[in-house]
Amino acid sequence: MNILAELQSRFAAALTDLAPDPQAYAAMVRPAQDARNGDYQANCAMPLARIVGAKPHDVAKTIIDRARLDDLCEPPTVAGPGFINLTLRREFLEHTLAAVAADRRFGAPAAESPKSIVVDFSSPNVAKPMHVGHLRSTVIGDALHRILEFAGHQVLSDNHVGDWGTQFGMILYGYKHFLDAEAYVADKVGELARLYRLVNQLCDCHDARESLPRLRAELEAATAKLPALEAAAGQDKAAQAALKKARAELDKQREELKTAERKVAAVEQDPAMRELADAHPGIARAARDETAKLHAGDPENRALWDEFLPACLGALQRLYDRLGIQFDHTLGESFYDPYLPEVVRQLASRGLAVESDGARCVFLEGRNAPFIVQKGDGAYTYATTDLATIEYRVKEFGAQIILYVVDARQSDHFEMLFETARRWGFADVECRHISFGMVLGEDGRPFKTRAGDTVGLESLLDEAIREARRIVDENDDSKRNEHDQPAPELDDAERAAVAEAVGLGGIKYADLRHNRESDYVFSWSKMLAKTGDTATYLQYAYARTRGILRKAEAAGAAAGTAPIAMAQPAERALALHICRFPEAVSAVAQEYRPNFLTQYLFELANSFSSFYDACPVMKEPDPAVRASRLRLVDLTGAVLKKGLSLLGIQACERM
Ligand code: ARG
Repeated sequence: MNILAELQSRFAAALTDLAPDPQAYAAMVRPAQDARNGDYQANCAMPLARIVGAKPHDVAKTIIDRARLDDLCEPPTVAGPGFINLTLRREFLEHTLAAVAADRRFGAPAAESPKSIVVDFSSPNVAKPMHVGHLRSTVIGDALHRILEFAGHQVLSDNHVGDWGTQFGMILYGYKHFLDAEAYVADKVGELARLYRLVNQLCDCHDARESLPRLRAELEAATAKLPALEAAAGQDKAAQAALKKARAELDKQREELKTAERKVAAVEQDPAMRELADAHPGIARAARDETAKLHAGDPENRALWDEFLPACLGALQRLYDRLGIQFDHTLGESFYDPYLPEVVRQLASRGLAVESDGARCVFLEGRNAPFIVQKGDGAYTYATTDLATIEYRVKEFGAQIILYVVDARQSDHFEMLFETARRWGFADVECRHISFGMVLGEDGRPFKTRAGDTVGLESLLDEAIREARRIVDENDDSKRNEHDQPAPELDDAERAAVAEAVGLGGIKYADLRHNRESDYVFSWSKMLAKTGDTATYLQYAYARTRGILRKAEAAGAAAGTAPIAMAQPAERALALHICRFPEAVSAVAQEYRPNFLTQYLFELANSFSSFYDACPVMKEPDPAVRASRLRLVDLTGAVLKKGLSLLGIQACERM
């Protein structure tokens, strides 16, 4: 049972004639911040009092008179200006806990109206440097897949890989002009990545070189205007704002110029690169032509693409295998290519897509830029593909909800996509951009792996596991037996397995525990710390529960099915926390925020630790109390393990 949801529905019933929108006020029932105020607290009396024009205290009294809570709570109390404090009854808690203990779902109810959900995540552009943002998408998407499925929905994971984009034009051009045949035989993907980077750098250099005169002229013109603006600023607010804006604009232009200069310099400072750049002046155009030829079905380019793609997907698969991540579908951009002309035809026939400067565009209200579905040269776009994808997912998968786990920089694209799809006729499918922030390095700039590609990500995982191994070794080497002699417990293979779980778990947990919309700083030491909000801490807590149970078993004591008593406050607090697992699952499923589950698990581990400090288990003389505590230990472990597995993180029996 979801206790919070139950309390809220009782409140909603009590509020029917009192509040304009009972659900909204009932939602103000929340877990209490401070255990001294009880288990839950309702703050709805204050805002309601303003509406009905009564004293908050009286409104609170009326609510508790009307609410039927006897079977769940002790008589509620009103505190301060009108806070309603709720304390669960002991019988109710015991009963709920017994039900949780007997349930493989730990009391989490299955969704009342299960939805058919497609989660679009990971979706890297193959053969192009993959950034940690793609790793974050992969980790968050996988957790959502697992949790939504557990919550009772029908979930399909779909990796919308970018396998048809302009990077292939660059790779094709590179392959035809710069291939290192030996390197290609030895490591196809590595050589393709090198070719991509090389061609990309040359294209960038030419583009930048071409734009330099314009950028310089613009900067000069803007700089020349500044003194007049400065003179005008004086006391005038509007003029000051104009000056501020001009200065910000100037900074941006300077930054742009610097970036362009850097791109040119990167090539010109290297004689070999300079020679290549001079020998291939039309490279950017030529690379675009290669893409166009591929899309038009040119046999040579198509054959090469057919040769490149399996290797690129294979490299990705290795990464997913290591992370324990599975996709139900990997329908990349190329898959939708045949559908694109029809998408544009339909949009045009509905008057949604119109001709503009030779391109076909959807103009949406309140947007500066149109949503371009076909370019002047006839090429379809990322947008067209995404529209075809929505149609396919609705028709073939019966999707009712589509989640796009993609970084925040694409939010404009998704807003326009969803609006266009709605007007095209897909108004019933709920599309959501599950946006997330950036991963930053300790210098505050976007975090980059050394090689900046899948190989870079793989070595990142290796590094995490190496770091974790150090921690595991240190911890195991420090173990002592009762005679204070060294007593390590793990052999080499076990240490390796634990290091794998801790290293990968650490990386995943760091991606999951932050509010997904915020940027966060990637830090090895914080990520793998044994205490604090880390996977390592939770994994140790789990291993501790297993250790206690092993000792108990060796001593002939077993938890069995003894009733769980909650005489001590720490026992009660832990029991209550265990009972709240369904609340965490449903919170994640409602807002698509895995950090609600990490937070729950972190608090569970804390609550367990307080319990273990306050309540002896094996040293407890009363066998009934001991058995009860052993059951609490067992149950804590089971919930920790389940929660971690819903995040895609492994728990280890000993560490
Ligand atoms: N391949 C894209 C990128 O790397 C992400 C694709 C996200 N999914 C989608 N349906 N647009 O930026």
